[in-house]
Amino acid sequence: MSNSSVGASSQNVPAHLSNAPQPANPEKTEGTAFGRKTSRTNNKERKLKGLKNKRAARSQSRKLSNYNVSKSQPRPQVNLTQVHAQPGLNIWTNNPKAITVTPYQGPPINLQNLGKMGNVVVLPPGNWQISSSGQVTPFVLPFPSPLGQNPPGQMVQQFTGHPRTPTQAKTAAPVASAYKNHGLRKLINQSRVSERFHDVQQSSDKLRQKAASVIDAFQKGTSRHSQASASLKSKHLVQIASVLDQHKSEQAKSMPTTAEDIKARAQSQIDSLEEGMQVIAEISNSGRAYYSQEDFSALQTLSREMDAERALLVQVMDDPKSALTEGKLSWGEVTELKRLGYPLNPDLASEFSTLTDADLLKPAEPFGAGKHHSVQKLTFPGVSDNDPPRDYLFKADDAKDNSRYEHVVGKDKYLDKSRPRFAGRNLAAQKLQDALDLRLLPAMTLTTHNGKMGLMMTKAQGVQPFNNETGKPENIAYDSLEKPTVSANLQKNLTDAQWLDCLTGQQDRHSSNLFIDPDTGGVTLIDNDQAFYPGLREVTDPEPDRKIGDWPLPWPGKPELIGRETFEKLEALDEGRIRQDLEPLLDKKEIESTLFRLNDLKQHAQKLADEGKVVDDWLTWRSPTTEDGKGGQRVADFLHSTGKPQSYFNALSQQAEQLYTRPDPQFTRSV
Ligand SMILES: Nc1ncnc2c1ncn2[C@@H]1O[C@H](COP(=O)(O)OP(=O)(O)O)[C@@H](O)[C@H]1O
Ligand SMILES: [Mg+2]
Repeated sequence: MSNSSVGASSQNVPAHLSNAPQPANPEKTEGTAFGRKTSRTNNKERKLKGLKNKRAARSQSRKLSNYNVSKSQPRPQVNLTQVHAQPGLNIWTNNPKAITVTPYQGPPINLQNLGKMGNVVVLPPGNWQISSSGQVTPFVLPFPSPLGQNPPGQMVQQFTGHPRTPTQAKTAAPVASAYKNHGLRKLINQSRVSERFHDVQQSSDKLRQKAASVIDAFQKGTSRHSQASASLKSKHLVQIASVLDQHKSEQAKSMPTTAEDIKARAQSQIDSLEEGMQVIAEISNSGRAYYSQEDFSALQTLSREMDAERALLVQVMDDPKSALTEGKLSWGEVTELKRLGYPLNPDLASEFSTLTDADLLKPAEPFGAGKHHSVQKLTFPGVSDNDPPRDYLFKADDAKDNSRYEHVVGKDKYLDKSRPRFAGRNLAAQKLQDALDLRLLPAMTLTTHNGKMGLMMTKAQGVQPFNNETGKPENIAYDSLEKPTVSANLQKNLTDAQWLDCLTGQQDRHSSNLFIDPDTGGVTLIDNDQAFYPGLREVTDPEPDRKIGDWPLPWPGKPELIGRETFEKLEALDEGRIRQDLEPLLDKKEIESTLFRLNDLKQHAQKLADEGKVVDDWLTWRSPTTEDGKGGQRVADFLHSTGKPQSYFNALSQQAEQLYTRPDPQFTRSV
């Protein structure tokens, strides 16, 4: 029997290994357990009668109960590898959770619940011997051992290790149906579900490999499982893998266009997931001993993820907006949007790239990491056959915000930490830059990589202004007589960047979140996550003492100058267009606050225009002459003498200057 034929489906389990019995029922011997309990209680009562006073009785009672309930006494440490492994081996405990089966790979272990008996006893079959000292290999029972004193005959029968018959097998408690159960469904619809299973293919492959290796080991005679248990284990694993495969193929399909079809297809996906959860529940109930701790906890995780996945499907199914996606999004995309907390909107479909994991030329590679996220490089083929491969960077979106940015504007004004929708904020920034006709952001779209939705973007050109490793400033011509055009470009771009960031309310423009091309003065603003807070309305002045952790807040305040094109675009910005562009990406309040900032900035731009601070040519511009006779300054001098230190051009150029003379890495992250 080859591995591959074993792994194909649950039907493919070899005939001679099919119809395996369930592992033994752990709870079929209550009679015995009750018997033990009664005998122990009588024993204890007899002892208590002889005691002189109540106090002593209480203290003695505590002592005695320690033997049984083992409160103050450490729980016996059960090292199951010490147990001579034989089929039918019995472990008795009052608390099955107390037993760790981590290193145990042997045959099934039968657990019996002895009520309040306390203590764990392991007895190999046919080995019912307790010495007068109460010792039972490999555990030492407390003295006087109720077991040692009075082993009831019935128990001896039980301990002889008769193999349990399949009729004794207990079926796992059925997994509640998520959509038939009204209460559960209501609860699901009211909750934020931020988990799901993502790399379904990888999980399914692993399960099938495991199933094949179980059968393989049995056939080679190296398995510690019986034929029946090997068969059952592999059958279970293949069943779960089939559920995952089925789910993956359903998730790849487009969403139907009618509410009825969405409901029907969601229900069938939920039914299938619940079958998978049921198999894991059965393993957990009665087959746990067949699995290593690692495998068992992987299954538990899978079950939790399936549980979350079905909850998301309930939410998709019950969301009247699902049908509005008009079949433009796949189930996978819609489910992921739900997980990330995006309201479903058909216009989100146009934000997704046509490139998917199916187009990848090679596996993703790690590219960079910031304080909160890591970024991966995805390589796709060129557009036409002769083109070189194209690299993009992928940053997965977060279902929850774990940053401390709520301290920047206050919790009441901050974004919803349970659904931060960072990718949406980046795309919203892109909409505003497009409306202003700027070229400051990497090109960004949405895509799904390994099941997770996130931002896919072009790689920024140039360098971060301060080298992250050395803390030294890069050689950038902020104000260079040798490279006047590069400097003029840079001054324009940094000023435009400040306008854009004021409009988006960007709070995180520290120097690792921007790139400068030293050859052209081009600026690329990356990491536009911390923007569009719902409560951030006014474009405030910088507050030098405001910090994020140890770093000064890189908020620049309103710019001192504006380029002619940006001025005209800004003044012409139409509220209707912005509402329409931002609607699929942001919440209502986030959009209204953006419009408020826009208004604030328009007024500021108008004021600058009145003061002659609209720049037509960044190379030749001179500041207007003021009443006190000052004026005629170049852009760099004007910004230095009148601008705020936090203004982007000043912050970068002045810090670079300071660092040339007094290198101090602690300044490197503050713009
Ligand atoms: N578009 C990009 N171009 C070049 N490098 C990038 C880009 N996006 C991210 N990076 C690199 O990845 C790092 C982390 O990305 P970032 O979005 O800043 O994550 P975080 O939210 O953790 O700060 C950045 O500091 C940068 O080095
Ligand atoms: Mg960053």
